[in-house]
Amino acid sequence: MYKVKTFNLISSKGLERFSRDKYEVSSDASQPHAILLRSHKLHNEVLDNSVLAVARAGAGVNNVPVADYSKRGIAVFNTPGANANAVKELVLAGMLLSSRGIKPGIDHVSTLHNISDAAELHKTLEAQKKQFSGSELKGKTLGIIGLGAIGSLVADMALALGMKVVGFDPALSIEAAWRLSSEVQRAENMHALLAKCDYVSLHVPAIEPTIHMINADALAQAKEGMVLVNFARESIVDPEAVANALDKRILRTYVCDFPEPVFYGREDVIAMPHIGASTAEAEENCAMMAADQIMDFLENGNIKNS
Ligand code: MLT
Repeated sequence: MYKVKTFNLISSKGLERFSRDKYEVSSDASQPHAILLRSHKLHNEVLDNSVLAVARAGAGVNNVPVADYSKRGIAVFNTPGANANAVKELVLAGMLLSSRGIKPGIDHVSTLHNISDAAELHKTLEAQKKQFSGSELKGKTLGIIGLGAIGSLVADMALALGMKVVGFDPALSIEAAWRLSSEVQRAENMHALLAKCDYVSLHVPAIEPTIHMINADALAQAKEGMVLVNFARESIVDPEAVANALDKRILRTYVCDFPEPVFYGREDVIAMPHIGASTAEAEENCAMMAADQIMDFLENGNIKNS
């Protein structure tokens, strides 16, 4: 019987994947053979010597000390692509929130609850409506930095919306990118991309070369009024440099998936609570993929990360 220890936020549908006759799956398993987790941080934890594999139901592995575990012979898995659609859809929401008067418009409507007369309500709405006018995504240029599973889906979506798409990946060539449409233009480097895009969406992992890659130097090249969208990791941008670029109106809006103190109270920052991958479908896909990886490894010795 293999023992699998789970941490919170793992979809139960994924856990049902483990065959009952071969696996004991529980959150308090002692001496487990494998660990299955989502966002729980393993940075400072010493694992039982019994652990052979750790699988993260998600794309990033920043909550797992991969190098240390690899040295100890523990196989580490992640689930690239399994939550890409969820993130892609929230990138669209972020771009729309930054361009249309959705949030202020909804906030405004919530202040009208004391007006019950239809004619007065109509008059008030008409008087205020102009301030909620926005702009469309169609015809604008989206730059995508990072062309893996998520970046490629974002590119397809943007093309379908009638946007122009420019791509750059610090690790992959455009040709080698996940499965990119030929309509995506290649940027020679990140600075060239930043100079011509109305929106820029980040989809690189947080690894040494990408930490603070969006810094003061990079933002000095940005097209004025650009919207920066970050559903990757907060450490990819230098928050002080972003705040400065917002102050100077080089950036119009910063959309991100993490609340950061430096941005509290700013109307030009739209921050979400790390919910890019939080859909029932994505949670299920990730948990199922991670469960399959663990079973294939423990039973057959296979190491498959896609
Ligand atoms: C990811 O790395 O894919 C996300 O952080 C997933 C999550 O929110 O669990």
